[in-house]
Amino acid sequence: MSATKKLFVKTYGCQMNMYDSDRMIDLLKPLGYKLSDVPDDADMIILNTCHIREKAEHKLYSDIGRLEPYKDAKAAKGEYMILAIAGCVAQAEGEEITRRKPCVDMVFGPQSYHKLPEMIAQAYRSLAANGKPAVLDVDFPVESKFDLLPMPSPDNHKGAAFLSIQEGCDKFCTFCVVPYTRGTEYSRPIDAIIKEAKHLVTLGVKEITLLGQNVTAFHGIGPDGKEWSMGRLLFAIAEIDGIERIRYTTSHPKDMHDELYAAHRDIPHLMPYFHLPIQAGSDAILKAMNRKHTADDYRRIVDKLRDIQPNIGMSSDFIVGFPGETDQDFEDTLQLVRDIGYVQAYSFKYSIRPGTPAALIEYQVNEDIKDSRLQILQELLREQQLAFNISRVGKPMTVLLEKEGRHPGQLIGRSPYLQSVHLDAPHRLLGQIVTVDIEGATQFSLAGKMVTQEHIHHT
Ligand code: SAH
Ligand code: SF4
Ligand code: F3S
Repeated sequence: MSATKKLFVKTYGCQMNMYDSDRMIDLLKPLGYKLSDVPDDADMIILNTCHIREKAEHKLYSDIGRLEPYKDAKAAKGEYMILAIAGCVAQAEGEEITRRKPCVDMVFGPQSYHKLPEMIAQAYRSLAANGKPAVLDVDFPVESKFDLLPMPSPDNHKGAAFLSIQEGCDKFCTFCVVPYTRGTEYSRPIDAIIKEAKHLVTLGVKEITLLGQNVTAFHGIGPDGKEWSMGRLLFAIAEIDGIERIRYTTSHPKDMHDELYAAHRDIPHLMPYFHLPIQAGSDAILKAMNRKHTADDYRRIVDKLRDIQPNIGMSSDFIVGFPGETDQDFEDTLQLVRDIGYVQAYSFKYSIRPGTPAALIEYQVNEDIKDSRLQILQELLREQQLAFNISRVGKPMTVLLEKEGRHPGQLIGRSPYLQSVHLDAPHRLLGQIVTVDIEGATQFSLAGKMVTQEHIHHT
């Protein structure tokens, strides 16, 4: 396998999938696979899938249908296009995928990525022997894939990078597939994380986002042989020279701890933006969701965060129409949103996931009610987001310049609150942090003028 091969990767779902896709791309590079933006003529296609809601799954199957003609065109030239399904749908559905879509050649879950070269070799062997590569790997192996995946390579980054520090989830919220698709919670050792973070800095990375399904429950083994909390890890990351911005996601209210609050108090380059999903504002629904906290617990956490870091902006996830949700339960969610005031938030209609406990609850909310609740909630969240963005106008903000804008001379970057900021700036500043005077705001973005290029550590 020495000749250059074309690889096309499509990533669905969360940031952990984005991180995983990059690691797969890095792993295939030494085998001669070159990443392509289009599926035409690809030797290998990887769809890195998400199973979180039914819609994500439907999208996968329609995408497979769309890719089939490319495969046929390749076959007409006497060549083979390997179609591989990775990620959480692969883990959840396994062989069912190849039964439904026989054009799929390989199915493997998130715990198998380090074995990709071996699986591809196996696929080509089976292609030679039977005219069809067929590989299925959805085991949860005991070894850690992280130790066996390569370090990130230079061309994936523009100033900001993800770093997975944890995988899986032991929380078992009754609506959620993640504990089944990603397995039990595993925290990477501190040394491995620090090594990867330092490596990212050598690639020019200034902002690191630590990733996990439940990073607040992180408990990786430190160099002292003891389990370190998320808060303690943040202090260690903050000591690395060259890291100017730190973020982490996703957090769970149940796992907030003193060292984490201390990190928000004492680490100036920990961004003042906290994504803390609550899902619903009604205690009855939170209980039925097995969230293990009340709405008031959540309010207290936010109060404490705001005491410690007054400029902190809150973000969250919400589900409307969880089985049994009444008008009053929904009103409690709206009230919580009014009480907290979000800088932005994600909201979803409850989606029945086969195999999860909530799927068995008898009283499911009908689709029309879910639709209207989602609309009402999203309207409120939109108002809050716009009000927050407008409140930034006339103030300076630091911006990490990430990519080119649509107009010549325009760059787009991220504020500390993850808003997109549009400004005119020279191309050579891509990947740098600059200060911008904010002059305009919409719901989704800010615009402004660059003041200086500087390397200050705060907002
Ligand atoms: N580990 C994170 C994120 C999990 S998935 C957490 O604990 O919050 C991201 C979001 O998808 C969840 O926060 C939830 O709001 C949403 N989600 C998960 N399962 C869902 C389902 N069955 N229907 C609708 N939304 C769902
Ligand atoms: Fe899913 Fe709950 Fe785990 Fe988040 S904490 S991944 S919502 S089970
Ligand atoms: Fe989706 Fe799996 Fe992430 S289900 S949200 S890709 S962990």
